[in-house]
Amino acid sequence: MNDGATQKGEQLGIGRFTDDPSRAWTLPSEWYTDPAVFDAERRRIFYRNWWFIGHVEDLGTSGSYVTARVLDQEVFVVHGKDGVLRGFFNVCSHRAHPLLRGKGHCGTIICPYHAWAYNTDGRFCGARGLNLVADFDRTEANLKPIKVEVFAGLVFANLDDAARPLAESAPEVLGHLLDACPRLPELTHAYSFSVDIAANWKAVVDNNEECYHCAGGHPSFMRLIDMTTYRAWEYESATCHTVAGKRGKSLPYEVAADDPVQQGFFSFLWPNTGLGVLPGRDNFFLFQMVPIAPDRTRVDWHFWFMQPEPTSAEAALIAYLRDELFPEDKAFCEGVQRGLQSLAYRQGRLIANTERPDLSEHQVLWFHQRVRDSLTARDRSSPAP
Ligand code: FES
Ligand SMILES: [Fe+2]
Repeated sequence: MNDGATQKGEQLGIGRFTDDPSRAWTLPSEWYTDPAVFDAERRRIFYRNWWFIGHVEDLGTSGSYVTARVLDQEVFVVHGKDGVLRGFFNVCSHRAHPLLRGKGHCGTIICPYHAWAYNTDGRFCGARGLNLVADFDRTEANLKPIKVEVFAGLVFANLDDAARPLAESAPEVLGHLLDACPRLPELTHAYSFSVDIAANWKAVVDNNEECYHCAGGHPSFMRLIDMTTYRAWEYESATCHTVAGKRGKSLPYEVAADDPVQQGFFSFLWPNTGLGVLPGRDNFFLFQMVPIAPDRTRVDWHFWFMQPEPTSAEAALIAYLRDELFPEDKAFCEGVQRGLQSLAYRQGRLIANTERPDLSEHQVLWFHQRVRDSLTARDRSSPAP
């Protein structure tokens, strides 16, 4: 029986989890419910990995900036006068007020509280009354940097200065995205929405990492794609799957025979970003699983098309994902979360056999291995300054 939350001080148990795909079990249920696990994930996964911040189209000119939160850490990315994109913790070195809000444009960064000022390269550049204090070290007042990387026009940040570049640990994903949607670099943001899910963030990722549930769980998706063509593969920090689109009148939204995208391509960037291209006109979407609480996740969706106003076919694609496909997944994730609290459940067997990718949960195992490795590796000092 599941004896509930990990006891204070007790080592986090792995139960029957094994790396052998033919004998694979899920992570134990307490990994999805225990606040201590959630807290460890914050420090050991999200403070050390790449987090989607925004799109380069919002950072195209000198002084343009976007702010974001990596869970409880406020950050921003700004386009410097020298053209370089830089990221910083969004905290004033005086008395900790956030410096920037939302997105926009700044010349000098001026704190709204007492007007301490910083250059867009992070250097402290002045404050009233400094002549009244002794031993003020201007370099200590500089903003604290974070790593920034641009990937497929998407801006990612990482709080860990020792982090490996995203492009190195997810090679070829960009090429696959461009193969699926050659006009990707020309696309512009057209639509965003968010959904709250009463489930742990990992239950939402698990659901995204297999299409074993698709045949029974998404009847309309089966009308859109040809599951006999489904393929799945992995890199160190990314999973990919492709599937050919179907033709015909019963599709859940219109795909014309001469539409530029005839193949679906989906990728997951560890730890919490999904990307994809669906059959139809040139399109690209991203969804980010944002952990809110052990049993709550917000999923932020963003869509890019050839123009900022979706055409009727593009609006139908959005509506299909937003109102039909994703609500089916949300219900599965919330059902799983309720089941994970059952006294009768702790772990389940995974079908992790790559011979039949349409039935396989081997990418769920891939994801669980990364979570296991992150939480059970020997700790190192926090990357935060
Ligand atoms: S907190 Fe920023 S100037 Fe005081
Ligand atoms: Fe699904």
